[in-house]
Parts: sequence; C-alpha cells; structure tokens
Amino acid sequence: MTGTTIREGPTEIIVPEDHSMHGPGTKTGGVFFNEQMAFNRDISVMFLRSLQRDELTVCDAMTATGSRAVRIANEVPNTYVTANDINPLAIPYIEENIKLNGLTNCEASNRNMHSLLAENSFDYVDLDPFGSPVPFTQSAILGCKRRGILAITATDTAPLAGAHAIKCRRRYQSEPIRGYMCHEGGLRILMCSIAKELAKFDRGMVPLLSFYADHYFRTYVQVVEGAQAADSTLAQLGYMAYDPDTLERSVSDRYDKEHRYGPFWLGPLHSSDILQRMSPTDTATEKRCNKMLEIWKNELDQVFLFDLSELSSHTKLSPPKLEDMLTALNECGHATKTHMCPTSFKTDLSTKEVIDIYRSVSPETLRANK
Ligand SMILES: C[S@@+](CC[C@H](N)C(=O)[O-])C[C@H]1O[C@@H](n2cnc3c(N)ncnc32)[C@H](O)[C@@H]1O
Repeated sequence: MTGTTIREGPTEIIVPEDHSMHGPGTKTGGVFFNEQMAFNRDISVMFLRSLQRDELTVCDAMTATGSRAVRIANEVPNTYVTANDINPLAIPYIEENIKLNGLTNCEASNRNMHSLLAENSFDYVDLDPFGSPVPFTQSAILGCKRRGILAITATDTAPLAGAHAIKCRRRYQSEPIRGYMCHEGGLRILMCSIAKELAKFDRGMVPLLSFYADHYFRTYVQVVEGAQAADSTLAQLGYMAYDPDTLERSVSDRYDKEHRYGPFWLGPLHSSDILQRMSPTDTATEKRCNKMLEIWKNELDQVFLFDLSELSSHTKLSPPKLEDMLTALNECGHATKTHMCPTSFKTDLSTKEVIDIYRSVSPETLRANK
C-alpha cells in the first residue's frame, strides 16, 4: 500500500498518491479517493453532530479509504463506526487511517454491503457508490434500524438531470426535466426513488437535508415506521407540467398529458431544526460550509425554481442582478436564493407575477424609465 497523508478538519487520512482532485472522480491505484468530496464529508460530520445522540451506530457501507468513516468516528461524539468496502485493496487504507487517528470506535470491514446489511442493522447507513445508488438502496433500508437515518449520494447526474433520459427512465422510472430546473428535478427524482423503495417495506421518510453540489446529489432522510408513514410519504410524490413558451409550471399528484415530468418528491428538502443545529466549526471547507448553510437555511422549501436566464430568453430583456430581482419580488411575495444555481431563485409568486416583476427591473426598463 502506498499513499500520502492529507488532513480534513482535525482528521488525518492516508489516501492513494494518485487520487482525483475534482469531478466525479476515478478509481486510481485500485482505491478511490476524491479531494473535492471533502465538502460532502464535512456536511456528514456537521449533520451527525447536530443529532446530538448519546449513541449512534454508523455503517459507511462503501467507504473506499475509510475517509468518511474515520472522520465520523474522530469528529462526532458517541459514534461506533463500521468502515466497509468490498474492495480488499481498500482495507489496508482503512486500517491505517483508524490507527493514524488512534480510534477505538471504528472497525474495518471487507464485505459486500448487501450481505453486511442483511445481517446487521445500524442507526445510520451511508451509501456513496460510483454512479447510481438504486442497486444498493433496498439493502441500505434493510440494514437501517427502526427510526434510523439513510444518507445517500448519487453521482449519476447526467441521467437524473435529463441529459440521458433513457437511463433515468430505466433506473428511476421517472421522466427527468432538462434545462433550468434539471438539478432540482434530479434531486427530487432521487428522493422519489428512495420514498418508493421505503414504501415497499411499510416505511416512510422525512427528509432532513438534501442538496445538489458539484457533480452529485445527496439526501439524508429519517426513516419512519408504519403503513401510514409510507402512505403519507407516497402522497408527497407527483408530476410536473412545464410550458417553455409561457414558463408556466404546475404540479399534480396524477400523470397526464401536461404533467408528464417525474414522478418527483414534491415535499420539503430539509428540516429547519437540523439546519439550525449544524455548525461548520473545525471543518475542512469551513467557508463553503458556512455559505451553503446560510443558503439552505433561508431557501424557500418548495417546488420549482425560476432562473434569470430563463426569464431573459422569454422576455428578450437582459437580466438584472439577482439581488435586485429578489428585492423586487419580496415587495410582492416571498423569494429567496436557491443552492441549486447562483442565477436561480425560489418564490411563492405566480409565473405571471414573476415575469411582470422581471420586466420591471430589467436594465432596459430601468433605463427607459429614467
Ligand atoms: C465512490 S467510492 C466511495 C468513496 C468514499 N465514500 C469516499 O468518501 O472517499 C465507491 C466505493 O464502493 C465500493 N463498492 C462497490 N460495490 C460495493 C458493494 N457491493 N459492497 C461494498 N462496497 C462496494 C467500491 O469498492 C468503492 O470503493
């Protein structure tokens, strides 16, 4: 085993020298590691700290070098972590990382996650596969204790965001939406697939934190037991209609000729309690964590976003600054930034109101009114 030592927050991690720095990452030197995912690991640590549990059993089911597992064991009090990967080449990295941080609450495991989670259950199960989590979701659910938490990453952004619609239909049985809403759509398709999988076991879910970042989607859901929870979860799935000529968008609990995108998860993405308790202190990407936390906390938690470029091509007027648009929207209703895209926003105003306000604050109109 060869490697280099890096530091994320207060945790030291030995990783393959030849590892990915950006993007979805590749498996180099036989074991996967991507430095850009430090933010994703930071969020896991902040999220788990916010639960403030006296005891939490954790399964990082696809841990590779053990980076997320050892960070959790080292940085989240009262955790007992199983750092699992099917790849035998990963085990020396996991063991070295446990040793390097002097951890007694973390153990390496070299199992196929399907059999590991059929035989053991945990309070928190983390899935971070190459690409789609769909083939692994059922096992994660079975290995999650009653009222446990599932944390699931999907890096198959192209299918979920509509660039490979056929793949999305096949994997997720959903019709993705391309264009300005593609990332929100992708996240909501992922969440819909988890909800449907849970319902098969008479379980429902409450999303605690869900986001799109870099090249991936990520959601943390609280599993809720019972047929009633499953039914009320399924009641939050639905379809969407979008008319690119008028920009009108609407949702429906039924599929029809217009409401042909989805099904999507149409419920909330976050729990405001969890977000209030999350703190970026001592993380590797503290500045970015602070910025994202701020956006998530303020983001209007409803479907579906608008984008300044979308409004610009519709009205043939150049876009105002996002801040100016938000100020004008907030004089009539409620509007916020969204973490999905720096030029997008969420609002409770109608499409017609949004278009009228856009026209009124576009630079051309302001110049003409001077
Ligand atoms: C994207 S990497 C995980 C990265 C890691 N979570 C991190 O933060 O660096 C996916 C890992 O899943 C592992 N894997 C794939 N199929 C598996 C299975 N059936 N059971 C356990 N691990 C599996 C691969 O060996 C690989 O190391």
